[in-house]
Amino acid sequence: MFSLKDLIPTILDLLPLAILLYILKFYYDYFTRSIPYPGPFPLPIIGNLHQYFYHWNDMSSWHRQLSSKYGGIFELYFGSNKYLMISDSRIVERILNTAKNNNYFVRIETEKGLDKLQKGNNGLLFNADVKSWTSIKKVFVRTIVSPNALKTAIKYIDNIFQDLEMLWDNLIDKKGQFLNDEQERSVDIDFIPWSKLIFAEFIMLLITSKQFNLLSTHYNRISNIKLNQKNSYEEFLDRLVIASDCVQYYTTVPSFIRNLPIINIHTNYLYKNLLWTRNYASNLVKERREEIERIENKEELALDFLNMLLTTNTSMNDEEVGDNIAEMISEGIDSPSNTLSFIIYYVSNDPDIEKNVLDEIEKVFDLGSNFKVTYEDLCKLEYIDAVIKEVLRVRPATATISRFSNNPDQIDNYKIPASTQLVINVIGLHMNPKYWDEPTKFNPSRFLSIVTKDPSTRNNINTQCNELKIRISRRR
Ligand code: HEM
Repeated sequence: MFSLKDLIPTILDLLPLAILLYILKFYYDYFTRSIPYPGPFPLPIIGNLHQYFYHWNDMSSWHRQLSSKYGGIFELYFGSNKYLMISDSRIVERILNTAKNNNYFVRIETEKGLDKLQKGNNGLLFNADVKSWTSIKKVFVRTIVSPNALKTAIKYIDNIFQDLEMLWDNLIDKKGQFLNDEQERSVDIDFIPWSKLIFAEFIMLLITSKQFNLLSTHYNRISNIKLNQKNSYEEFLDRLVIASDCVQYYTTVPSFIRNLPIINIHTNYLYKNLLWTRNYASNLVKERREEIERIENKEELALDFLNMLLTTNTSMNDEEVGDNIAEMISEGIDSPSNTLSFIIYYVSNDPDIEKNVLDEIEKVFDLGSNFKVTYEDLCKLEYIDAVIKEVLRVRPATATISRFSNNPDQIDNYKIPASTQLVINVIGLHMNPKYWDEPTKFNPSRFLSIVTKDPSTRNNINTQCNELKIRISRRR
């Protein structure tokens, strides 16, 4: 009988040979690949991960450099996984085509880790089943992006901003100071937590039509007011951030690495948070199911996302509906709150742009005491619309968008093999001088028909706004 101890020297002797064979196989596959695209040279096992980690803090500018060096399509290796980075608009148009039989429908290969989380056909983002995606998308469009849903959303946002104004007024009364020769008291705050909570409250209203009072909880905390009751939804939000990391981790880190000793402590931590949020969300769903059953006239039900999912998609169990609402919450907070924060940053850092924005607000809205934002007025905002588009160009909410090819394809001269991961290099496209004049300049006027003078230049591209100090003071 051999014991493991006896085998260790043999294993150690064979290890260098095994590594050598792995390296030879890796480079054999690399040099004989059927469709070679240019790209930085990969190393065995880690691929281009060393460069990836080196540029960790500024991934977008790294992608931008790579696309200017290698062109509209190039290869990158994430470990031994190859993907094609795309910054050619012709390929992007084909990939994002909305036709039902689009060859690039799937965003991520579910067997890579999502199956372990049993998330295969839940929600929209990772759904690989066209039928289930289409039915959830219908509910999403009806309750979140249809003109009627937008009108409701504007009312919610209007109310949230009225609450915000009241809380900021109180903050100025409590903590405000006269600075220099200013006539009014003001307070310096970090806008980022406020911005996240504005959208968290908003998304929760869209999903459940109930208030969660997140802004007042935050106000109480920063004003050192003792809270009688914990806001349990806050814990849900915090854990949801970790649960989203868990999804990303399971889809990128191979299972044998996730289960290695020490690393598995982190894996379990992420997984437990995911289970916690899943349980919280499915309890919300359970409560709502019971509420729906108690209501006799179903026409009285609010047209929120949760009711719509439960009444139109009756085949889903509580956990599946819970996963859908958890996805909506994690998708609906960061993108809009980062975008809003960058809008404030760019507008307040350029007096010309700020003036144009304020002039348009005065022109379109009746700013009297009955001031209300309406859908019709919002549609008149041409300059502000251009500012939002320019912010989304220079600070896109997502730096990359991933899709898998189902069948082999050819787009112009580019050949795409089947089952290839294509990653749209959003910032590479947005900063490409082929498509934009002076791409690094922040210039909303490029989205207007009239060309005005170019304002400022910003070079460092990040898609996350981590801190934004602003000064609030009362309106005169
Ligand atoms: C400034 C605001 C926003 C920006 C810039 C933004 C950006 C994006 C982008 C670029 C995608 C496509 C990702 C891909 O195809 O892989 C996406 C998808 C998605 N977003 Fe947003 N988003 C915003 C607000 C929201 C909000 C408020 C919600 C929720 C209410 C939301 C929910 C979703 C969902 C569910 C998807 C997947 C849609 C699908 O499969 O068709 N987003 N978003």
